[in-house]
Amino acid sequence: MRLPKAGTIEIVPSILSADFAKLADEIAEIESAGVNVVHLDIMDGHFVPNITIGPPVVAKLRKHSNLVFDSHLMISEPEKYVERFVEAGANHITFHIEATDKPEKLIDILHKLGCTAGICLNPETPVEAIEAVAPLCDMVLVMTVEPGFGAQEFMLEAAKKIVRVREIVGPEIRVEVDGGIDTETAPIVVSYGADTLVAGNAIFAKTDRIAAINAIREACPVR
Ligand code: DX5
Ligand code: ZN
Repeated sequence: MRLPKAGTIEIVPSILSADFAKLADEIAEIESAGVNVVHLDIMDGHFVPNITIGPPVVAKLRKHSNLVFDSHLMISEPEKYVERFVEAGANHITFHIEATDKPEKLIDILHKLGCTAGICLNPETPVEAIEAVAPLCDMVLVMTVEPGFGAQEFMLEAAKKIVRVREIVGPEIRVEVDGGIDTETAPIVVSYGADTLVAGNAIFAKTDRIAAINAIREACPVR
């Protein structure tokens, strides 16, 4: 299971708004909608003011899904934990530039572990912070909400950074966007150059998740 090669628009459901008491079923439902990737929000109560899941839950979910596990580490000291997440079944790991002062080393570690690597920017972090390391990654994640919670309002100013990120990484590296993505905001971020669209609330707050995924997909301009 590898992150799909750049060149396609991927709708990536975030399980943060799913029912955590039946995660395997929730993931199976979105898998049946034809998505390739699921977004796992990992929070430590330190880097962000919320706590979600760790490697034991990822390992259990791995037995129930063939989707690519796009693991968004909103944790301090990510270098201490990446090996455990890869062992648990993470296929792609994104860490925050704000959480480490050795991003190149961490990207290298992830690649040696057989995992694709992503770097993430908080809404207030300038693109310059990742300019040197972005070309070493497989995906760059631009946050369009403050990390920590689902169902927040989309921040247009933060989304505008996608244009510069795309200029830096070119067409071969994925540009992912996370926070407030729905049928209204998806076309905006795609027009800025994003190709990987995380959506939590816009999918899992709906009774018909498959229709919700299709609606976001159909709202995106054909590239
Ligand atoms: C926020 C998370 C997001 C979140 C997005 O910290 O990183 O992945 O699930 O949720 P929505 O789509 O509801 O804004
Ligand atoms: Zn996320």
